[in-house]
Amino acid sequence: MAKPASHSDEHQREAGMDAATFFGAQPFTVQSAPGRVNLLGEHTDYNDGFMLPVATPQSTTVSVALNNNPEFEIYSATLGSAVAFGQDDKAPEGFAQYIEGCIRLLQQRAIEIPPLRMHVTSNVPLGSGLSSSAALEVATLRAMRALLGFELDDRSLALIAQQSEIQYAGVNCGIMDQMASSLADSEHMLFLDARTLATRLLPIPADSELIVIDSGMPRTLAASAYNVRRAECEAAARELGVQALRDVAAVDDVERLAPPLRERARHVVSENLRVLEAAEGVDAARFGELMNASHASLRDDYEVSIPELDELCDLLRAANGVHGARLTGAGFGGAVVALCRTGAAAAAGAAVVERFNAGASGRSAALLLPITTDTRTQ
Ligand code: GLA
Repeated sequence: MAKPASHSDEHQREAGMDAATFFGAQPFTVQSAPGRVNLLGEHTDYNDGFMLPVATPQSTTVSVALNNNPEFEIYSATLGSAVAFGQDDKAPEGFAQYIEGCIRLLQQRAIEIPPLRMHVTSNVPLGSGLSSSAALEVATLRAMRALLGFELDDRSLALIAQQSEIQYAGVNCGIMDQMASSLADSEHMLFLDARTLATRLLPIPADSELIVIDSGMPRTLAASAYNVRRAECEAAARELGVQALRDVAAVDDVERLAPPLRERARHVVSENLRVLEAAEGVDAARFGELMNASHASLRDDYEVSIPELDELCDLLRAANGVHGARLTGAGFGGAVVALCRTGAAAAAGAAVVERFNAGASGRSAALLLPITTDTRTQ
């Protein structure tokens, strides 16, 4: 496990009662799962396409033991929040819904889940677009699998985690975040084909490291706009007579669509081509160009960027040793990621955060990680 990115993350993880205190004398099972940073391939997963996420060094840890009471008792040390619900009850709104979803979906597969006590702690930044919810779902499923001994491979586990998010947390997401949390590590990019769920671990371009900056901008529009984009992609695929936009081979093939479907489809088709090129193995300079092109496409054709994310990417590109930068995740706020020359990431990130925050009052961008060669080897 890599070290946490900052003292505030450390603080976040240690905020509440620790697992040993929570369980007392009772033995418990501990499992963790990471968040993700997507390097290339945005809004492609629900189009059956390709992507290249990396696991964050930060992770969520779930500790679990059988409960003597007939209830699920769940405590988040990070949020300082405790909830309980019975076998026939719904979990209260909030973080426990992701956990309840995992429990119910296992039960629907005829896996018996007895009453449990769970302790959750996380240093994955919450609400920054690094998939803290996928980390919670996957860590929960791993912990129950380890305690109860049922058979479930890592792909099935990701699919259940995704269904928990869709059916119980009400987020109509694709499969990238849960697959990344379940199968990626922070030393490689995970090449993922969302149609077949085939994966390959690929090296991050040589002599480079990553930096992630949380813009601090709330992602208020993200959920509604996300659903609109999904519907537009489905409409574009129908008009082009293909099962999914993944099946469109050339960017020119979308030109006969009317706006905005043409632009949406152009983003998805060109983004898939960028991922396929990167997965062939390109050097860091070319990978950076592909990231820049991805951002431009997300901004101009897919229209999921905001001026602050554009500004952060511009500042990053102008910084010493940065090969390329783009928004990462669904957009409308959240985080940006940059590929930097080894040794350049921390200084570039700190300088960009300082300049960005000085640019207008009330800004609170923060460095979430360098994934440096140091953290990669730990
Ligand atoms: C969110 C969703 C993912 C994916 C990205 C955009 O993170 O959860 O499934 O669609 O947005 O690439």
